[in-house]
Amino acid sequence: MSNARSPQAPYEVIRWSEEGLSLLDQTRLPWSVEHIAVRDLASACEAITTMRVRGAPAIGITAAYALAQEARRLSSQSVDDARQGLAQAAERLAATRPTAVNLRWAVARVLAATEHASDSAVLAHLATEAAQEMHAEQIEADRRMAALGAPLLEDGAQTVITHCNTGPLATGGLGTALGVIIEGHRQGRVRDVLVDETRPRWQGARLTSWELQQHGVPHDVIADGAAAGLITPRGVRAAFVGADRIAANGDTANKVGTFGLALACRYHGVPFYVVAPRSTVDLATPSGRAIVIEERDEDEVLSAGGTRLAAPGAHAVNPAFDVTPAELITAIVTEAGVLRPPYAPALREAITGRSG
Ligand code: MRU
Repeated sequence: MSNARSPQAPYEVIRWSEEGLSLLDQTRLPWSVEHIAVRDLASACEAITTMRVRGAPAIGITAAYALAQEARRLSSQSVDDARQGLAQAAERLAATRPTAVNLRWAVARVLAATEHASDSAVLAHLATEAAQEMHAEQIEADRRMAALGAPLLEDGAQTVITHCNTGPLATGGLGTALGVIIEGHRQGRVRDVLVDETRPRWQGARLTSWELQQHGVPHDVIADGAAAGLITPRGVRAAFVGADRIAANGDTANKVGTFGLALACRYHGVPFYVVAPRSTVDLATPSGRAIVIEERDEDEVLSAGGTRLAAPGAHAVNPAFDVTPAELITAIVTEAGVLRPPYAPALREAITGRSG
């Protein structure tokens, strides 16, 4: 599945072996690189909820492997009991985070793959095969997106901007938007990167900056609020972001702050690109208004690094994502091609193969 011409992540994010599932614990980065064993369903749910693993494709693949592990645990039961147990596990996993559609997509795919299993050992085998397939497909999709997205940058090495973390840590492959940036740097199209720190969970400062260091890509971390004012002085030529869910009309949910960056780019005439695999597209969601936005604990906003910063008694609202309207998006890069507006027919064709 790997391509010698594309840079691969020099660290393993999601590891599957005979011993089971283990994950690079992203809550420990950038201070230490540690893998944790995910031994059962409860620890898989905990790892997703607490963001030891995060990023839309990565949580989908993690959930798929967690189901494979659960199917193995259930393999001494009758096939009907194992199937029922797996369906319950799928429900628990799908409920861990609401916005990234890849999570639901992945658990549905494992359940579909095991639907006709003749016995519980076959069921465990099919679940494992489905999870491994999804992981391999994501690696290949990332490679395709990087190859398709990097040429969007023309005319020599440029400065680009990104928000949140969309690298290998977020997909288990090369990443989505950050994969394009890493490949763009390798091709001499990206000189350096402005990295939004991404409050309140600091995915930019803690994860994207670390990943760009691992890949030798020059960058500066900036406060989210500095982005609009730095686009002109730093000569930013394009923005690349990921997605947690793309509605049928192209409206895109991504990490909170993405919408503001898109508005700033429109004001400055800078192209704003979304990079996401087809598993992030949700044709069943007609527009961004129907996307459920995860609300996280207010303490993430009121505190930083475990220290309360807000005045005693202050409260916060903490939406983890926002929705960028399709009209602010210059193009959506998927593994099936670079989609341009109008997005409704383009997305339909990319997902179903039919334009009508
Ligand atoms: O809350 P997170 O860290 O899971 O959010 C991640 C993002 O918003 C990413 O930008 C998105 O999942 C795209 S990942 C390839």
